[in-house]
Amino acid sequence: MSDALSRPDRQAVRGIGYGGDYNPEQWPESTWAQDVRLMTEAGVNLVTVGVFSWSRLQPAPGELTAGWLDRVLDLLGAAGIGVDLGTGTASPPPWLVAAHPEILPVTADGRRLAPGARQHYCPSAPAFRAAAVDLADRMARRYAGHPAVVMWHVSNEYGCHVPACYCELSAAAFRAWLRERYGELGALNEAWGGAVWSQDYTSWDQVQPPRTAPTYANPAQQLDFARFSSGELLACYLAEREAIAAQAQHAPVTTNFMGFFRSLDQFRWAADLDVVAVDSYPDPADTEAHLLSAMTCDLTRSVARLAGSPGRPWVLMEQAPNAVNWRAVNVPKAPGQYRALSLQAVARGGDAVLSFQWRAAAAGAEKFHSGMLPHAGTDSRTWREVTELGADLGRLAPVAGAAVRAEAALLHDWESWWALEADSHPRQLHLVELLRAFYRPLFEAGVTVDFAHPESSLSAYRLVVVPALYLVSDAAAENVRRFALDGGTVLISFFSGIVDPRERIRLGGYPAPWRELLGLRVEEFAPLPSGAVVRLDGVPGAARGRAGGGTREDTRGGAGGGTRGGAGGGTRGTEAGGAGRVWQDVIGLRGAEPLFRYAEGHLAGQPAVTRHPYGRGEAFYLGTLPDRATLRGLVAQACGRAGIEFRTDVPPGVEMVRRGDHLFVISHLDQPVELDLGGKSLDLLTSDIVGPAAVLGPRGALVLTARD
Ligand code: GAL
Ligand code: ZN
Repeated sequence: MSDALSRPDRQAVRGIGYGGDYNPEQWPESTWAQDVRLMTEAGVNLVTVGVFSWSRLQPAPGELTAGWLDRVLDLLGAAGIGVDLGTGTASPPPWLVAAHPEILPVTADGRRLAPGARQHYCPSAPAFRAAAVDLADRMARRYAGHPAVVMWHVSNEYGCHVPACYCELSAAAFRAWLRERYGELGALNEAWGGAVWSQDYTSWDQVQPPRTAPTYANPAQQLDFARFSSGELLACYLAEREAIAAQAQHAPVTTNFMGFFRSLDQFRWAADLDVVAVDSYPDPADTEAHLLSAMTCDLTRSVARLAGSPGRPWVLMEQAPNAVNWRAVNVPKAPGQYRALSLQAVARGGDAVLSFQWRAAAAGAEKFHSGMLPHAGTDSRTWREVTELGADLGRLAPVAGAAVRAEAALLHDWESWWALEADSHPRQLHLVELLRAFYRPLFEAGVTVDFAHPESSLSAYRLVVVPALYLVSDAAAENVRRFALDGGTVLISFFSGIVDPRERIRLGGYPAPWRELLGLRVEEFAPLPSGAVVRLDGVPGAARGRAGGGTREDTRGGAGGGTRGGAGGGTRGTEAGGAGRVWQDVIGLRGAEPLFRYAEGHLAGQPAVTRHPYGRGEAFYLGTLPDRATLRGLVAQACGRAGIEFRTDVPPGVEMVRRGDHLFVISHLDQPVELDLGGKSLDLLTSDIVGPAAVLGPRGALVLTARD
C-alpha cells in the first residue's frame, strides 16, 4: 500500500488493499460480527464506512449519534481491517432540507430538484457548506485518533448527479468569481465577445450563469461556468479537508473521482488529495470494457502523478463485483471479469481494489446492485470470485508501491474538453471517443500511456499524442513545441490548437501555435457527416521516413517505421490506402511531407496526414480520423520513430503492462489464448515457472518477474 496508508502510528494496510463500501447501518447489529468474519475469510483489509450515513450520524442538528459507528470501527479494528472513513456529507438529511430549502440545486432551465434521492445540494449554498463542515468537524474530533482509521473519504463522487447549480446563490457566487478573474467588466466583455449578439454587460448584476436560453449560450460564458462549477465543488472538498486536518494533521484525505467525468477538473484537484481514488464501472456488455477501464486507470495514475511523484500509486475506490443496477440493462460481469479488471487496476498502479459494496442491500435504491456478499450468500459465484481475488491480491503484495512508467502520453485537459464539446462548432466531437481511438492501438501494442496535462513536464515521454486539444494556452503550445524541438515525436490531430483559454480563435490559419512545428497551415475545415467515409491514398515511399529528422531508429526494423504485421491484427504501412472519418482539414503544406492524401471528394489529391521533422524531433499531423488499421499503422510508425517498442505479437484482447519489476499479462477473452512469453519467468500468482510458451485460460492472468 502506498506510503499514505501504511503509517506507523495507526493500523497499516499491508500489501494491496482489498475491500469495499461497508454500510452496516443498513443491517441489524447482529450481522456485523458475521460481516467481519467473512471479510477476514475473503482477505478484506480495507473498507469504506459512513459515506451515506448523515441521517444516522446526525438525526438532528448539533449532535453526533456515533455510538453505533464506534462499535463498528472497534470491530473492524480488532480484526485488523483498516477503515477509509467517510465524512458522510454527500446526501443531506431531510431535516437539513426542511430547515434550508435553498440548499436544493436548480437546473439550467430553472427547475429546483427535490430531495428523495441523493446529492441534492447546491455547492455554493452557505447553509449546506456550514452543515457539511460541521459534520466533518464532529467526525474528525471523534475519530482522528481511532487506530482503525487509515484514511478519510470526503463526501462522494463530487458532481456525479449535480455537476453544476444555476440557482440565485450560485449566480451570485459566479459573479464574485468572475470579478476576481476579470477585475473589470470591460475585460469580461472582451473575453466573452460581448459585441457578438449584443451581449455587452454594463453592470455585474446583469451577468448570469448560462441558463437555458433561446439558442446557444455564449461559449466563453459556458467555459467560465464550467471552471467555476468545478471550483465550487473543490471548495466544498477543501472546507471539509480543512476540518479534518485541524484534528488529524497528517491523516491522508481523499475523495473518489469518476475517471473521464467531464465536470471535474481533476488536474486542479490533484494537489489537494493525499490519495487519488477512482470509481470505475465499465459496462460488461461493452466488448471494449477492459479498454475503457484501462483508460480510467491510466487517467487516475496521471492525476496522482500531478498530485505527487511520478508513478505514485492510487486507489480503485469502487467497482461492481458483478452487475450494477443503474443502466437500462444490467448485464452481469462474465465469470473471471471481476478478477481480470481488478488485476488490471493493480497492473496500472492501483494499490487498493475496492468495490461498491460489501453486502448487497436488502432495501432502497441499490438493492439490485451487486455486492461482494450477494443476496444469495456465500454459496454463490460472486462470493467464490471475491474470496479467490482476495487470495490473489494477497500474493501481489510485492507489487504494492511500485511505479508504472509510461513512455508515451496523450495530452488531456478538462478546460479544452469543456470548450471542445460546447455547441456551435464545425462538428460535434466527443473527446472520450477520440481519446479511445488513439489509446486503442497503444493499448493493443502494450505501450503504457499517461494522460498528461498539456502544461506539465513532458520530459519523461518519447511520444506525445494530442487528440483534438481544441483549447491551448501559450504555455501548453510552447511545451509541445519544445518537446519536439528537443527530440520528441508528436502526433497531433485535427481541431487542436484552435482557441486560447479565453475561447478566442488563434488567427492566421490553424493550428496557429503549431503551424511551424507541423510545417503546414489548415485553411478551413470540411467535417464529414456521421457515418461518412473518405478514401485515403497512401503516398508511396513516405512511410520509410526518407524525410529524415528522426534521430532514433526503429527498434523493430521493417518498413513503416516499426510496424510489422502480426498477431495483433496487422498494421499497415502508409503505402496502402485507408479511410478517414469524422473530419477533413484543408491542409496547405509548408514543409511537411504528406503520408496520405484524400482520394475522393472535392479535396481529392490534397494532403490528409503529414509528417514534419522539427528540431531534433518530428511532428505527425492527422487532418482526419483514420480507420483503425490505418491509425494503428501511423501510431506504430510514430512509436518506431520515438524508439518505443510497439509490440505486434500481443493477441487481441490480451493486455500487457509493466509495473515495477513485474509484467502483468491479462486476458479479457472468453476463450483460452496461446502466448509466447519469450523466456521463462516466475508467476507471482501461482509461484510457477512459466514460459516461453504458455496458454492463458479465459480471463486468466500472469504476473511475471523476469528471470533471465
Ligand atoms: C457510485 C456511488 C456509489 C454507488 C455506486 C453504484 O456512483 O459512488 O455510492 O451508488 O455508484 O454503482
Ligand atoms: Zn446553487
